[in-house]
Amino acid sequence: MTTPEHLIVEPGGRLRGLLRVPGDKSISHRAVMLGSIAHGITEVNGCLLGADVRVTIAAFRALGVQITEQADGRVTIVGRGFAQLTAPAAQLDMGNSGTSIRLLAGLLAGAGFAAVMTGDESLRRRPMRRVTEPLELMGACISSDDDGRPPLRIMPASHLCGIRYRLPVASAQVKSAILLAGLHAEGHTCVVEPMPTRDHTERMLRAFGVELEVESGEITVEGGQELAATTLTVPGDISSAAFFLAGAAMEDGSELTVQDCGINPTRTGAIHILRRMGADIVLSNERCTGSEPLADISVRGCRLHGIDIPSDLVPSAIDEFPALFVAAACAEGVTRLVGAGELRHKESDRIEAMAAGLRVLGTKVATSTDGIEIIGSVDGFSGGSIDCRGDHRVAMAFAMAALRAREPVEIIDCAAIGTSFPDFSETARRAGLNLSRA
Ligand code: S3P
Repeated sequence: MTTPEHLIVEPGGRLRGLLRVPGDKSISHRAVMLGSIAHGITEVNGCLLGADVRVTIAAFRALGVQITEQADGRVTIVGRGFAQLTAPAAQLDMGNSGTSIRLLAGLLAGAGFAAVMTGDESLRRRPMRRVTEPLELMGACISSDDDGRPPLRIMPASHLCGIRYRLPVASAQVKSAILLAGLHAEGHTCVVEPMPTRDHTERMLRAFGVELEVESGEITVEGGQELAATTLTVPGDISSAAFFLAGAAMEDGSELTVQDCGINPTRTGAIHILRRMGADIVLSNERCTGSEPLADISVRGCRLHGIDIPSDLVPSAIDEFPALFVAAACAEGVTRLVGAGELRHKESDRIEAMAAGLRVLGTKVATSTDGIEIIGSVDGFSGGSIDCRGDHRVAMAFAMAALRAREPVEIIDCAAIGTSFPDFSETARRAGLNLSRA
C-alpha cells in the first residue's frame, strides 16, 4: 500500500476500539541484521515491512544474504555467518533510515571489504561523526563528507580492537554500532551510557546466543563470538502506538486499546509523560515474546494539563515527542521540555518542524536550542496546512491534532509515513479519524 502525498483530516471525531500497530521498527532492523550474520535460518514474525526496514533487507541482500519476506510480516533469513558477507556491487542506499546506516557502519567496519552507504536528502543531512569517531578508535577506516554527513565510505580494515567508550550523547544507534563492531574486534568492547537508551541490541544479541555483560550503565561484549539463528516475534511499535495513545488521551470520550504493543522500559517514556499530564492509561495482559515485553495499552480521554517534562524521561520518549507536543498544545497550562537537543537531529529538526506546525494551528510556542515551551489551550486548534518536512512522525502527530481542531488539518508531503507505518491511514480511519487523500 502506498501512502498518499497529502492528507486532509476533518476536524473532530474520537478514537475508539481495539487496534494493532505494525512491528517495532528498531527491533525489526536488528532482527534482519543479526539474522543475516548468524549461522542458520532465522524466522522473524511480525517484522515491520515499512520503507526503512526494507532498506536494511535490501542492504543485506546486496551483501549476499538470502532473505524472503511475506506480506504478513514473516521474514526468513538464511544466515551463513558474518564472514560470508560479500562486498556489495554498488553503493548501499539507506533511504531515510538513520538506524540502518549507523548500525551497518558498525557491522561493516570489520568486514574486510569496501562499502559505500548513502541515503536520501534528509539522511544526508544527519550527523555521522558520532559513529565514525568511535569506530575509527577501534581501527576502522571510514570517511564521510567534510561535515561528517553521509555518504559513508568504509575501507577494508585489517583488524579492529575493542575499546572502552563513553557516549557523549545518549544514543542507542551509536551504542549498537560500537557493540556490533565489537563482535568482530579483538578483546573486549565496552560502551558507557550517560543515560539508559533502548536496549534492543543487547536483548537480541543474547537471543542469538551472544554473551554480554550489562552493569551500571556499562555494556561489554567480547569479540569473536558467533551468532546462532533463532526465531523472533516483533511486538507492536510503541512509537507508532504513541500517536493513538496521545490522540485518545487528549480527547474526552475517546477509549482505545492498542493490543500486543512493546513496553520495553527503555521505550515507555511517553506513557509516563502522558500519565503525568493526567492521562488515564492502563496496561493489561503483560507478557514477554522472546526477550521483549509487551502488553495491551488502554487509554481513556480526559482533560490533560501541562507539565515540566523530566529530562531523565527524554531518551525513553525520544521518538514520541511530536505526538506529545500535540497533546501538550491542547492541555491546560504550559508544558516545558529541556535537554532534548537530539530532536534537532532526527528525520527533520523536530523542534522547529513541530513549533512551526503548532503555530499554524494557533498554538503559542517558544523554542530553545534543546527544547520547547508550549502554551496549551483547552480550546484546541484552528485548522491549517502543515508542512511536515518529509518527517513521518511529524505528519502522524499533526493528523491527531485534527481531533481537537475547528477546521480541517491538511498535511503536506507526508509520503514518509510509509517508512514506519505503511497503513497508518487505514488504521487511523478505523480508529475514528476522518481522513482522506488531498
Ligand atoms: C533508534 C534510536 C534512536 C531513535 C531512532 C531509532 C534505534 O536514535 O530516535 O528512531 O533503533 O536504535 P538515536 O540513537 O539517535 O537516539
